[in-house]
Amino acid sequence: MRLSVAAAVLLSAAAYYVYLPLPPGVCEPWKLMLLDALFRSFMTAGDVLHGLGLVHRVHLLNWLVALVEEVPARSCPALMVSDSSLGGVPVRVFAPRGEERSRRGVLYFHGGGWALGSARMRSYDLLCRQMAEDLDAVVMSVDYGLAPESVFPAQYEDALSAARAFVSVDTREQFGLDPGRLCISGDSAGGNLAAAVAQTLSSDASLPARFSLQALVYPVLQALDFHTSSYQQNQAVPILYRDVMARFWLQYLNASAALEPHVLANAHSSLLDAPTRDKIDWTSLVPAAVRKHYTALPPGGAAAKADPVFLDVRAAPLLADASVLSRTPPAYIMTCEFDVLRDDGLMYARRLREAGVAVTSDHYDDGFHGCMVFANLPMWSQVGRRSMRRYIQWLDQNL
Ligand SMILES: *[C@@H]1O[C@H](CO)[C@@H](O)[C@H](O)[C@H]1NC(C)=O
Repeated sequence: MRLSVAAAVLLSAAAYYVYLPLPPGVCEPWKLMLLDALFRSFMTAGDVLHGLGLVHRVHLLNWLVALVEEVPARSCPALMVSDSSLGGVPVRVFAPRGEERSRRGVLYFHGGGWALGSARMRSYDLLCRQMAEDLDAVVMSVDYGLAPESVFPAQYEDALSAARAFVSVDTREQFGLDPGRLCISGDSAGGNLAAAVAQTLSSDASLPARFSLQALVYPVLQALDFHTSSYQQNQAVPILYRDVMARFWLQYLNASAALEPHVLANAHSSLLDAPTRDKIDWTSLVPAAVRKHYTALPPGGAAAKADPVFLDVRAAPLLADASVLSRTPPAYIMTCEFDVLRDDGLMYARRLREAGVAVTSDHYDDGFHGCMVFANLPMWSQVGRRSMRRYIQWLDQNL
């Protein structure tokens, strides 16, 4: 009797901890709640140990990820898989075996707020394997430096250095890459790096080859407006909460963590000039049906000029001029309805199109941030699998 009471109490406590009201329409809500409970317990443990001064919260998370998620570079009958380096940056390489011929190539940047994750994580290893096998392509997954040790522009510079080496004659000859069929891609913070590097390289005439496509999966593209309609709608939707995204940005830009309330109130960007404001104006760039009833934050509070780093296009690719955008390759942009970054992706799609770039905009009405990396077991996310299939299919048909 006492045991069953204890069990009931424990179960209700667990259910209380796990349960989170989610917006109707999100795919497989219970799976997302469990995932969120897991993340929250890691975060809480990280905060406690960080508060005690024992370990940086990011180090704890990365240590846990390494423990649970890292897998060695294992070759299989279809692929040679190895850990190597590209332009001085560590990469995991997935190269198809079989006859020697010229192959398509994908350069991939993992997500994780410029602070977490790795090409050696099981989920990214599986994603890149799948791409390499399905596309019969050479895939290289980049382990750029992470915050807090590396901060902007280090991640960007790592990504750029790997990308320059990827399109070099040496790499082409070593891996049999077809110089006319190369794609740069990444998800979340990795999508940010892919977009930024695509812009830089498109304006560089000295390269022996260029990327013919860019594929951005729920990318993060600007740090000036934390009140877009998707930031408002999804501020409390797991797994990427609005304040967590703001913290990742501050850490990447090496700005003080004390600025969090300031940036969350958009006070850091209350005095933008009109051309900059237009580039991130979701009230016109995001379709009315998507932005719904949300309205822009009225200006108020202590107005301040943005720190120049928030305006740096290498950190915030959405701020690029149309002339720069127009030179970038045809794009695939995946967005999720239940994601604070939804509007970042939709605005970029719209601005690229207006600049004359062909864009495939793939929107998931039931998707949440990060879903594509949860396509495999144990999460086996349905929208994750669907989005991964479509992403690879798009590459197959366009690269
Ligand atoms: C980051 O900020 C700290 C503290 O303001 C400073 O000491 C450090 O040099 C900065 N790092 C970089 C790479 O700018």
